[in-house]
Amino acid sequence: MQTRTPGETNRREFMALALGAAALLAPRGASAADARIDVLPDEPIGRIAPEIYGHFVEHLGGVVYDGIWVGEDSKISNVGGIRAALVDHLKRVRPAVIRWPGGCFADSYNWRDGIGPRGSRPRRTNFWVDSRELAGVPAGPHVFDPNAFGTHEFARLCRLTGAQPYFAANLRSLPAKDFYEWVDYCNAPAGTTSLAEQRAGNGDRDPFGVRYWGVGNESWGCGGNFTAAEYAAEFRRFTAWVPKFGGPLSFIAAGPGSGDIEWTRTFFQTLTARGGGALGSLWGWGLHHYSENVAKGRTNRWGDRMGPAVAFDLEGWYELLKQADLMDGFITQHWQVMGEVDRDHRVKLAVDEWGSWHQPGTAVAPSHLFGQMSTLRDALVAGLTLDTFNRHADKVAMANVAQLVNCLHSLFLASEDRFVATPNFHVFEMYAAHQGATAVRCEISAPRVRYSRLGQPADFWGLAGSASRRDNAVVITVVNPHGTEPRETTVRVRGADIRGGQLASLASTDLRAHNTFDAPRTLEPVRTPLAPAGDGLTVRLPAASVNRIDLTLA
Ligand code: AHR
Repeated sequence: MQTRTPGETNRREFMALALGAAALLAPRGASAADARIDVLPDEPIGRIAPEIYGHFVEHLGGVVYDGIWVGEDSKISNVGGIRAALVDHLKRVRPAVIRWPGGCFADSYNWRDGIGPRGSRPRRTNFWVDSRELAGVPAGPHVFDPNAFGTHEFARLCRLTGAQPYFAANLRSLPAKDFYEWVDYCNAPAGTTSLAEQRAGNGDRDPFGVRYWGVGNESWGCGGNFTAAEYAAEFRRFTAWVPKFGGPLSFIAAGPGSGDIEWTRTFFQTLTARGGGALGSLWGWGLHHYSENVAKGRTNRWGDRMGPAVAFDLEGWYELLKQADLMDGFITQHWQVMGEVDRDHRVKLAVDEWGSWHQPGTAVAPSHLFGQMSTLRDALVAGLTLDTFNRHADKVAMANVAQLVNCLHSLFLASEDRFVATPNFHVFEMYAAHQGATAVRCEISAPRVRYSRLGQPADFWGLAGSASRRDNAVVITVVNPHGTEPRETTVRVRGADIRGGQLASLASTDLRAHNTFDAPRTLEPVRTPLAPAGDGLTVRLPAASVNRIDLTLA
């Protein structure tokens, strides 16, 4: 391993970033196999819930209108009004679940506005209408929602892509009765209630069978500004006597933002103040965490400091990864506090919003509020976050990346007839093999990365990842965060011989690389076969890469 001062590293790498010079970034003698991955297949962690690979769609900016819904009469290729390219690509990542209609929007949404003949649906002011970023942008569906995309259209998107719907109900501005009636409208068997008949009249005789219901969103903020104790009482009231219509209902409560442990502790204590039975109504405890370049970014309206989406430097590269890496500690800390009350850990975590959040300025259309370009750096955020969820497969039952298209950590960008898959899409496609497999323990060791943060020496892990097993196949996914150094890595599976394998790497010598409408294939995974040697094999994990290693065991 080479030793350098942090200052030397940064000057060289900063120049490489600025120049995009491949030669400057060429591998510089990372020593042979200075890293190891040891998979321990007989140490299971738990089944990786496919729902961990979930998505999120909000009526926000260009997510629904432009991103998903183009309308049945559009010249853009569509399936019942839904953008066909999006459906085709989404199917490839096997989206187990999609959350809708928000986000903050959910607590202002009346589901009745989005049913019935489209021409007669009301136009409503969108929750995000007063966003500073939309000042000067001509009005459109992003601020005055035509409600063309409602319950039936969302159910159609789920059916087309094989996802389960996850509805987020309005707790702030509608009574509990409206929530029960939405459940009735969606789930009552055909021919039973008046709402079931209304549903049939609107085109869907069979119930949607919606299992996942969020009860409010960010209730500490846009969802009502409640205290944790107030919200717990509301949650108990909303979920007490909801008709199940024979199916299980899984309620997800609005959990904390990032590390707000007190929100978790007070909610669990208050929920169970009248007896532990109330835990029975809680399936998932939400957790939201966004990664921002807080080291030296610009302040947004919530006081968060955000860095640029594309024009970041090496410090911004590592800083964002560090922010994303906090997820691991948040999961462990909240889980521990939940266990103070929920001793058997019946309630699991639902990380129903996560991803990178950058400064505005790189959206593909002005109406796309919080639209941003996703680079290779965001792909690494996706990889290391999904690995974190896999490693906590016993705790995390669902996760939803924010958001599917045209917003924050998107898999897709779309505007009018243009469509492109971002590097995040490729990570989801690479990682899809973990869905439903058994997460197994995996020991990874590699030299730490050293860099400079705010003028001080800082460091970061050298490799991190996760592994899963299904029969005699092992899948390892691993991120190399080093901006310039590939990592020669020995891979072994304890107690098993490796018969063969394949490496898929998403990497670039340009840390800011991203896919655009004009250059849609700038970043794509590259696959190479791997030959076993002895009881293991050696792989070269490129600098700045997300990798999937497929192993067949003897
Ligand atoms: O994803 C964008 C917004 O971020 C969501 O509406 C809200 O829940 C969160 O603050």
